[in-house]
Amino acid sequence: MRSDVKSKPGHIGIIMDGNGRWATKRLLPRVAGHRAGVKNITPVVSCALEYGVGCVTLFAFSTENKERPKDEVDSLIDLIRKRLKPMTRELIERGARVMFSGAREYFPSDVQGIMADVENENTDPNAQIVNIAINYSGRSEIIRACKIAAEKGDISANGIERELYTYGIPDPDMIIRTGGEKRLSNFLLYQAAYSELFFTDTLWPDFGESELSAMFEEYATRSRRFGRV
Ligand code: IPE
Ligand code: IPE
Ligand code: MG
Repeated sequence: MRSDVKSKPGHIGIIMDGNGRWATKRLLPRVAGHRAGVKNITPVVSCALEYGVGCVTLFAFSTENKERPKDEVDSLIDLIRKRLKPMTRELIERGARVMFSGAREYFPSDVQGIMADVENENTDPNAQIVNIAINYSGRSEIIRACKIAAEKGDISANGIERELYTYGIPDPDMIIRTGGEKRLSNFLLYQAAYSELFFTDTLWPDFGESELSAMFEEYATRSRRFGRV
């Protein structure tokens, strides 16, 4: 789904990268970086919602991240277990609706229960959306959508888009990646076709309002042509 060309982005995706390096620089264990990263979510997302963004998609945990050492994966799952509700409370209080993209069946049932609780806190279809991508893989999302579309006998763009996790949400206008790498790492591969990409060397726990505002300003100056002249 193509969003209208406007000076303000309707949907932004954030690849929150650099937690491990943030911790390593401070001689701390990587999990300390993930904790600092989680703390940074509410202020940055609040700032985006205040700016008027309709949806913020956060890349929190990729399918491939499961290949990290078991203690890191376990501590990431434990952070979701312990911090998801407190982290989203303020966002929900300011009117946002939280949803998730990804293969949630991988998570232990108590974590899936927490995810469902958070989603059910606000089901207003007109609310601003905070979409958390966990155990998410863009390729898997496309394959899954194609399979369901085939079962339903509608392998059209509409038929496939209807089965994406983000169905109903305009494609991301901006994708921001912190942490210095310049790649998508399997994030929103279908939806990112015409997204404006923003990269910063700032590590996710240090990324804040001033840099986000500067990106919004730059976004307003970019010329989006969608293949036209
Ligand atoms: C991003 O930070 C968070 C997750 C992938 C869960 P990293 O953990 O990838 O941090 P770096 O890239 O190693 O610094
Ligand atoms: C992307 O970061 C995933 C998240 C931020 C959740 P990675 O650290 O996993 O990406 P690569 O391995 O550098 O491509
Ligand atoms: Mg990384």
